[in-house]
Amino acid sequence: MLFSPSNTTGKVDNAFLFIVVCCVILLAAVTICMVVFLIKYNRERHPRPERVKESLLLEIVWTVIPTILVIFMFYFGWVDFKYIRNPPKDALTVNVLARQWSWLFTYDNGRQSDLLNVPLGRPVKLLMTSADVVHCLFIPAFRIKEDCVPGMTTHLWFSATEPGSYDIFCTEYCGVGHSHMRSRVVAMSPGDFLNWYNAPQGRDLAEQGLTLLRTKGCLGCHTLDGSDKVGPTFKNLMGRRQGVIRAGRETEIVVDEEFIRRHILDPRSAAVAGFPSVMPQMPMTDEELKTIVGYLMRIK
Ligand code: CUA
Repeated sequence: MLFSPSNTTGKVDNAFLFIVVCCVILLAAVTICMVVFLIKYNRERHPRPERVKESLLLEIVWTVIPTILVIFMFYFGWVDFKYIRNPPKDALTVNVLARQWSWLFTYDNGRQSDLLNVPLGRPVKLLMTSADVVHCLFIPAFRIKEDCVPGMTTHLWFSATEPGSYDIFCTEYCGVGHSHMRSRVVAMSPGDFLNWYNAPQGRDLAEQGLTLLRTKGCLGCHTLDGSDKVGPTFKNLMGRRQGVIRAGRETEIVVDEEFIRRHILDPRSAAVAGFPSVMPQMPMTDEELKTIVGYLMRIK
């Protein structure tokens, strides 16, 4: 019937459609009654009001029918809710870290990605948490969403049934970068997935640098293509003349290696003029910092 790219889509749609159909029928019945009564009991036809006798039968009918309807609505919702809340034992586990303002997906073998790559036909269980504030992972095409809460692990599961790429949104307002906090589920054949899952991570500086920018969440706020998002672009960063605000005063500096390193280690040391001062301090090893700074200096 409808496009159903995961096992969860149809379940939610069926419960939803049932409720919509019930509501439309009730709306039509109530509206028709209203119009009929308006005409039939018009003042011209009935200049003197009559005493209306109560009808026990009518009262029973309009109590019992809606009760049965809402019990059915509850039943459909409950059955599918139970299904959607309980992941199967053999599910592929992916750890999800939400943070201002990006998603990080970590697989069992240590593989990390800012895209959620999954094999078709295999249940995938997401174990989710947040590094800072409350976020919410929503996959509209799969009709599933769940909050990511600091200090707590929440979960979702699904099994993709159609190859393709489906939006992931954050649906809990989490600060200035909230609307940029997007990613995608990429559903691929099991063979393609295994190739990706087992592929060696890049060895050269460019590949390592780019991977780090993704996994550390830098690309949630900065771009490589020259456009500004929550923060300034990384394109031609080295040697750029940049207005910064230090101790309430704006000065112009030339971006160099030292500035980049310091800004990553302590983002609050200087605010970049024209942008909100919201950059989080991202934990990283000396080795990772060296790679990122080295890579940032080379982006043209
Ligand atoms: Cu994260 Cu909104």
